Amino acid sequence: MEWGNIDMPEKISVLIDESTIEKRIHALAEQISEDYAGKELFVVGILKGASYFMCELTKRITVPVRIDFMSVSSYGDDTKSSGVVRIGKDIDSPLEGKNVIIVEDIVDSGRTLAYLKEFLKQRGAASIELCTLLDKPERRTIDVEVKYIGFSIPDKFVVGYGMDYAQKYRNLPYIGVISFDD
Ligand code: IMP
Ligand code: MG
Repeated sequence: MEWGNIDMPEKISVLIDESTIEKRIHALAEQISEDYAGKELFVVGILKGASYFMCELTKRITVPVRIDFMSVSSYGDDTKSSGVVRIGKDIDSPLEGKNVIIVEDIVDSGRTLAYLKEFLKQRGAASIELCTLLDKPERRTIDVEVKYIGFSIPDKFVVGYGMDYAQKYRNLPYIGVISFDD
């Protein structure tokens, strides 16, 4: 397979196509807009993976929205967890009294979102809910309640729609399963 003019050793097969993803995101946005009717939202996207999902989602939310981004790392350029959650970029404004939704690309062990929820709770938000495009429930090691889930998927490593393998494939417009057998 070719990526630009670079050879890709990995094979990628489509798991969820673009129109299916977009329909589901619109439904999530509708649900969020109903749940927060009459309120304002502060939506925090987790860089870099959630950026594509974050844009499509917030565009369709009909209550007033403020957005910000954080970057955290729990993985290196690998498909295995390092077990460490490190904050890179923090949000730029106070959360006091805000209704917060943290937006992730994928929940795997649950460690990242569990950590972030506690971390942001200490800032006095009125409420904090979690939203993820993908969930791999089989992989969960920490019990964390994720209110808004796009799709539950099997335990496969996925790329595209923001998600990477070694920083590649984020810009694929679909979600694909990556395989490494020559
Ligand atoms: P957790 O802390 O174990 O839940 O890990 C969540 C993070 O791991 C996500 O934000 C992704 O960055 C990364 N991750 C987990 N599974 C995948 C995958 O299948 N593809 C790409 N990134 C993944
Ligand atoms: Mg991530």
